[in-house]
Amino acid sequence: MIDMSSLAQCIDPLAPLFWDQFWRVRSAFLVPGVEARDIAEKCGSIRPGNAFLEIGVGDGRNLLVVCQAGLRVHGIDFSSVAIARAKARLQKEGFSVDLELGSAGNLPYPDEHFAFITAIDVLNHLPEPEVCMAEVHRVLAPEGRVYANALSVRDPNRAMVASLGREVAHNLYQLPSPEYESGQEVSCIMRYYEIEDVKRIIGGFGCETPLQEYVRIDGGDLPPFSSVTHEHVFWRLDLRKVAIQ
Ligand SMILES: C[S@@+](CC[C@H](N)C(=O)[O-])C[C@H]1O[C@@H](n2cnc3c(N)ncnc32)[C@H](O)[C@@H]1O
Repeated sequence: MIDMSSLAQCIDPLAPLFWDQFWRVRSAFLVPGVEARDIAEKCGSIRPGNAFLEIGVGDGRNLLVVCQAGLRVHGIDFSSVAIARAKARLQKEGFSVDLELGSAGNLPYPDEHFAFITAIDVLNHLPEPEVCMAEVHRVLAPEGRVYANALSVRDPNRAMVASLGREVAHNLYQLPSPEYESGQEVSCIMRYYEIEDVKRIIGGFGCETPLQEYVRIDGGDLPPFSSVTHEHVFWRLDLRKVAIQ
């Protein structure tokens, strides 16, 4: 077992390569999941023109609904291939958005800038999710909203991940991915959360709805390592920034 900041130091330079390759091998755009429906509904309570941020945009499947709601859309991802794919997807639909290459742990935005922030399928891949959540807190406006998810320890694919990867800390696996990058070892982190782990990273936020698990069934063209089953179990994080006493 190693400490989290050492892990972050060895993972951080490799992780964008993993995700570049992940997005490069995909032929089709990801289908929006149940989270896009929830995000669209929450956009209804945000005044049009207010600033929105998605952390880890991937190929942009969650951004379409936010563009349709008339928010000022920003997105960040440390994979340049993801950024290019998301831009292409949104342009095809006639939307122009501000997407930047950068890290979830060091958001290049001013304090209290965003009314609404999302991070879908991202907290599972961070060596130090509490660093990301502290950044989210910093750039979120007072009373601003956060909608995110985190893989549950009850996710059905956990056993498969455990058998393929190396457990580098409790419920945290480092996955090698030889099928994605020949000759170069690139890594991905898979982190599974107990409710206590979720509570630990959301200090400073209030829960709009109680912490709950939900099931998502993914369809379509998934890469071979990512699923034995297409069913996933996540924690839903529906949060609001509250003043720290
Ligand atoms: C599983 S994908 C999810 C993409 C999108 N949110 C969705 O729901 O389809 C995870 C994304 O997070 C990005 N990512 C992972 N760790 C990151 C980090 N530390 N900083 C910025 N982006 C990160 C990856 O490049 C990838 O595009």
